[in-house]
Amino acid sequence: MKILVVGGGGREHAIIKALKKDKRVSKIYAAPGNGGISFDAECVPIKAVDIQKMTEFTVQNTIDYVIVAPDDPLVLGMVDALEAKGIRCFGPNKAAARIEGSKVFSKNLMKKYGIPTAAYETFSDPDKAMNYLKQNLSFPVVIKADGLALGKGVVIAENLEQALDAVDSFMKEKKFGESGSSIVIEEFLTGPEVSVLAFTDGKTVVPMISSMDHKRAFDGNTGPNTGGMGVIAPNPHYTDETAAVCEKSIFLPTIRAMREEGCPFKGCLYFGLMLTGRGPVVIEYNCRFGDPEAQAVLPLLETGLLEIMEAVTDGRLSEIDIRWKNAHLACVILASGGYPLSYKTGFAISGLESVEKSGAVVYHAGTEYREPSFYTSGGRVLGLTAAASTLNSALEKAYKAAELINFEGIHYRKDIGKY
Ligand code: AMP
Ligand code: GLY
Repeated sequence: MKILVVGGGGREHAIIKALKKDKRVSKIYAAPGNGGISFDAECVPIKAVDIQKMTEFTVQNTIDYVIVAPDDPLVLGMVDALEAKGIRCFGPNKAAARIEGSKVFSKNLMKKYGIPTAAYETFSDPDKAMNYLKQNLSFPVVIKADGLALGKGVVIAENLEQALDAVDSFMKEKKFGESGSSIVIEEFLTGPEVSVLAFTDGKTVVPMISSMDHKRAFDGNTGPNTGGMGVIAPNPHYTDETAAVCEKSIFLPTIRAMREEGCPFKGCLYFGLMLTGRGPVVIEYNCRFGDPEAQAVLPLLETGLLEIMEAVTDGRLSEIDIRWKNAHLACVILASGGYPLSYKTGFAISGLESVEKSGAVVYHAGTEYREPSFYTSGGRVLGLTAAASTLNSALEKAYKAAELINFEGIHYRKDIGKY
């Protein structure tokens, strides 16, 4: 089989490494890929959002199966375009990807089908939103841009001034373009967060091992929100009892709701949950594998990833027995100094050879390869991942590996897994 993986971050590297284990795979392309991925797949210089070029490449190269991994091509309808050419894909179509692409859509879906989530109001008129905030006596409140905003479309406003500023920047200044034309204002909740990725073919839903992302840039969960600075799996807060509650009140109802709305979801559905005093609630849905969650969850998979993905595509997920390794996994992200705000790239990376020997696995995110070295090319640069029989030993192994790596301005959190 010839496979194309769309995307070029750590998540895509983890997907490609998992696919490589399958004997049926004869060739993997990645578009655009990255420096590290180029050692596991053939990288093609097509942007992940370029639907036309991606479709042409797929047809010309007689690709058998395409995995669309990032949110933006899914929300733009890449799967619809590929399927129109008869190409088999893993990932939701445009209508189903709205579950991530529009927070107004997902909040209204949860309200209609009684899926637990934070109380909210939606607005498409900035003056109405501002008037509502002026009457809201309890802060903090959470303000979310409707559409995709590179993970930056959520503001937790501590007071009225910050809240009004957020509405102004989303709706009037249009900081994220049309993504901020509508907003959601919602209740601030507290509790441990859990990421649950789930395979679903629109009828059956199979949750993967739970995980815990660390979104803030600095130790002690401080600093700006990032795409994710590290992850552990399984999530220690997610008990079997909680899992059973989530299955009944969140996972199954969501899959049913999407089917009843006429947009069955096929692919990986990411449930961003918060375990609150009134039980688990949905903080967000993503229409794809999380990054870095994929780097911590996919290595624990015992069943072949391609076999599961094809069952999702063909609507026969209920026939597959998905097995997991009984291990703990820790992934520490090494980032460029300054990320997620402004940062410099182009620095040589040293120490990668010694990491390979340490037993940790390196997933490349923002790297490029120029013979004979790797250089930084993005905010999140590498994900160092280690598995062990306990969480502490997995963390120790991942941190030992992190100490071997260096590049100018390197930054990583020292407290992954401590919450
Ligand atoms: P989202 O992109 O919706 O996941 O939001 C990013 C992060 O903001 C989440 O991981 C939470 O840490 C935080 N967040 C979002 N919504 C809420 C909420 N209603 N209450 C408290 N924190 C929230
Ligand atoms: N790690 C969070 C996300 O993938 O959205």
